[in-house]
Amino acid sequence: MTFTPHRRPRRLRTSPAMRRLVRETRVHPAQLVLPLFVHESLTEPREIASMPGVSQLPLGGLAAAIDEAAAAGIGGVMLFAIPAERDATGSAACEADGILNRAIEVADEAADGRLVVMADLCLDEFTDHGHCGVLAADGSVDNDATLEIYGRMAVAQADAGATVLGLSGMMDGQVAAVRAALDDAGHQDTSILAYAAKYASAAYGPFRDAVESELEGDRRTYQMDPANRVEGSLEAALDEAEGADILMVKPALPYLDVLADVASEATVPVAAYHVSGEYTQIEAAAANGWIDRKAAHLEAATSIVRAGASIVLTYAALDLARWLRED
Ligand code: PBG
Repeated sequence: MTFTPHRRPRRLRTSPAMRRLVRETRVHPAQLVLPLFVHESLTEPREIASMPGVSQLPLGGLAAAIDEAAAAGIGGVMLFAIPAERDATGSAACEADGILNRAIEVADEAADGRLVVMADLCLDEFTDHGHCGVLAADGSVDNDATLEIYGRMAVAQADAGATVLGLSGMMDGQVAAVRAALDDAGHQDTSILAYAAKYASAAYGPFRDAVESELEGDRRTYQMDPANRVEGSLEAALDEAEGADILMVKPALPYLDVLADVASEATVPVAAYHVSGEYTQIEAAAANGWIDRKAAHLEAATSIVRAGASIVLTYAALDLARWLRED
């Protein structure tokens, strides 16, 4: 005798129309943020070898990239910059004519309110040792000396027109320090996106090529241990209490448990960063014909949103926006 189940979840999977009707998670282009790299010494775009489809842009190419992103309907861009000169304290980060601050000005004008211009607030692109903060005499990363510089960098970015500052350095107290510096300078309306739970991940490798990182060693004294989940909640709670407007978990897919925790505990929007190494894993496998590129990117973005992110930073933002519109 054959057994006849009376509960049949497959009924709701019988057709594309039915699946679309009952779908729990929908990703919209407005939730996507595209990271962009501006290189001070370039006059033409240069493809990043370890990030197929992603290029370093000359400052002169930024406005067109912003236009493309706005036309695709994506929600924002996150600007990173590679300066021509680096030093021990990352001084170009705080100068009005530093490449990142000039890029913010160009992006702000090009965006013209069509998308949100965000800027990375961290010293690693500007220091000749590649760390996210300044070094103490013993070579360790000096937390509190770095906070003072972050404050000045924040004011320079806000002066240049950045709407959202992405604090990615993982220094203790950085959100409170930057908030105070912004408010003192009259930038009450500049928002803080805090990389709250940022793990010391192997998945940042291609990004370090993209920004030509000078780092030797690792960031394990300030970025989080991948083994720790509860600590992700602590970092997020501290950043929210210090005044973060948006919290972020990074990387995304290996940390969906942390993302789900943070999303359920936070009372501000939560973002997740599908980082360079997560992107290139898909790209490399797809280039070999081992994985369906479109399906893999859509599944990644959908899973990140399902776990609780309302904002997704992804290098595939332009393609995703197109695929989502076609859908
Ligand atoms: C540091 C920073 C990093 C990334 C974003 N901001 C690299 C790092 O912490 O070493 C990585 C992003 C990516 O891998 O896509 N300012």
